[in-house]
This record gives sequence, C-alpha cells and structure tokens, in this order.
Amino acid sequence: MIFKKDFLDKIINITSSAAIACYPHLGKKDKVLVDKAATDEMRKNLNQLDINGEVVIGEGELDKAPMLYIGEKLGTGKGLNIDIAVDPLEGTNFAANNLPGALSVLSISSKGNLFNAPETYMNKLAVGKDVPFDATDLDFSIEKNIKNIADSKNKDLDKITACLLDRPRHKEIIDKLKKLKVNLRLITDGDVAGALLVTDKKYSVDIFLGVGGGPEGVLAASALDAFNCKFQGRFLFKTEEDITRAKKMGIKDLNKKYDLNEIIMGDSIFSATGITTGDLVKGVTRNDNEFVTETLVTHKSQNLIKKIEKSTII
Ligand code: FBP
Repeated sequence: MIFKKDFLDKIINITSSAAIACYPHLGKKDKVLVDKAATDEMRKNLNQLDINGEVVIGEGELDKAPMLYIGEKLGTGKGLNIDIAVDPLEGTNFAANNLPGALSVLSISSKGNLFNAPETYMNKLAVGKDVPFDATDLDFSIEKNIKNIADSKNKDLDKITACLLDRPRHKEIIDKLKKLKVNLRLITDGDVAGALLVTDKKYSVDIFLGVGGGPEGVLAASALDAFNCKFQGRFLFKTEEDITRAKKMGIKDLNKKYDLNEIIMGDSIFSATGITTGDLVKGVTRNDNEFVTETLVTHKSQNLIKKIEKSTII
C-alpha cells in the first residue's frame, strides 16, 4: 500500500501540534510535564485520524501508560491498517532546559512494514549515500569503517567527522577516533537528529555511530530510507526482562544486525517538527496567537523530502 499525498498533511499536523503543545513548558525544567504535553496532544490527534493504527515503536509498554506505549491502538479504526513509531518529544532535556534540538517525531508505514521493537538500546551506524554500501558495517572495526569512508570520499582521515552521543560508554570508540585524528561531533542528546546529519554535506558529518535508543534508531532509519542513506542497527538486550520482551515480540536472534530495509519496509512517512531550533529544523515561534512550526517530512514512495513551514492560529 502506498500513502496518498493528502495523508501527508495530516501527519505533519500531528507532529506540528505536538511541538506547539510543548511551547508553554519550554525551559521549565520539568521533563515529565513537557513530555506529557507532547504525548497527550499526539495521542488526541492520532485518535481522530481514520486509521486502524498500532504503536510498534513507542515509550514502554502498557504498564508505562500514559505514554504512547507499544501495542496501543490509535485512530477511529475505520481506515488504513498502519504501524506507527512515535517519539512525541525527542530530547526531553533540550525541551525542559530550552536548549536547541528538541523534536516531535512520528513515522508510519503499512501494517507489518515497520520493525516491532522493544524499548532498549541499539548500536547504530549511518552514512550518507555518497559512501558505497559495502564500505561500512557495524561488524567492521572503527578503523576500517573510517578508512573506507575516507578512501571513498578521497579525503584524509583528519577531514572525516564522526557524530556520536557523548556518553562514558563510548570512551573506547572516542579514543580510537581521536587516535585516527577524526573530528568528533559529540552530541549531548537527540540521536534521531544526530543520525540524520549524514544526509547532507552541509552538516559535515561523514558517519554517525554508537549506542543510543532503539526507538530513535528505527525512527531515524525511516527518514534515512527516503534519503537513500545507509543505516544498520543491532539491539542490545541486557536484562532478563529485555530478553523476555524481545522474544515475546518474535525476535529470535537477539544478536542480529538489521539493515535499513529490515527495519522499514515499503512506503513510509516520516515527520519531525522542531520544538526548539536545531540542525534540522527551526523551533516553534509565537507571535500573539499565531504559532509557526517547521517540519522535515519525507515520503518514500513519492521521493519527497521537504521542509514545511506551517502557521497555526490558536
Ligand atoms: P529522550 O528524549 O527520551 O530523553 O531521549 C533523548 C536521547 O538522547 C535519545 O536521542 C537517545 O537515543 C537516548 O536519549 C540515549 O539514551 P541515554 O541518555 O540513556 O544514553
């Protein structure tokens, strides 16, 4: 099934209104409040769509309600059968502290075409379409990946930039990258946006790598698909609870490395609206009762990649 164009506007409205819902709570140092505002708004609007939707990537499972949880049914139940990946507020720290880079993110596909993943960590790798597919791999060493990228771009190693989350768990990777004299782009949060920095030369990021949220990996993969970029991910199931949950979801090989087309299959729509201004999109601005949002939207089957500015009078 391929989504019709008018459906796109409805999806854009959903992340846009969730971003606006965060606006009064920006910089209030209350992560729970601002996350809830985005989630409530996103749920309300998804429930008004004529879809028979199910959250396959969300925040926790039933026990974690009121977040949009994995398995939650959304929509009027009348229309398309679709799978939904949500992150109503990606970068809760950013929003709570009014810092750059908070996004409201949503991705949808036909039923069965979006990977059904538990909320756990994922080891990720993303590179732009200018790097040959076989040049990089999650199973290659850092050195091999970086050298292959440098060769394929005809660049010296010290002209390569790697983006990853600034976390103690990445010390070994960071040390290796430093030794190779690779430039680092260390992000404090927000690795959906981090992964998308490989999509355009203007961001000067040659590779995104490291361990971040699994749901964020699936969401990024959905956009990277439209950009024809490469993405690989391997879930990291650490606790017994994680393992049991993964098995319940039908994941047999817990160590499997997933290529992009195993995570997102067929047509998909990805929509990310800026809450606070970041690399990808501008944040919400307000002028009296008018709110202006900017949304990065991709629609795979239409080869559409666009930024949409939207004015909403409230
Ligand atoms: P939240 O918006 O849920 O706080 O996620 C922010 C984020 O930085 C993600 O972009 C990233 O995937 C994840 O947290 C990394 O998790 P951790 O902070 O545990 O390293």
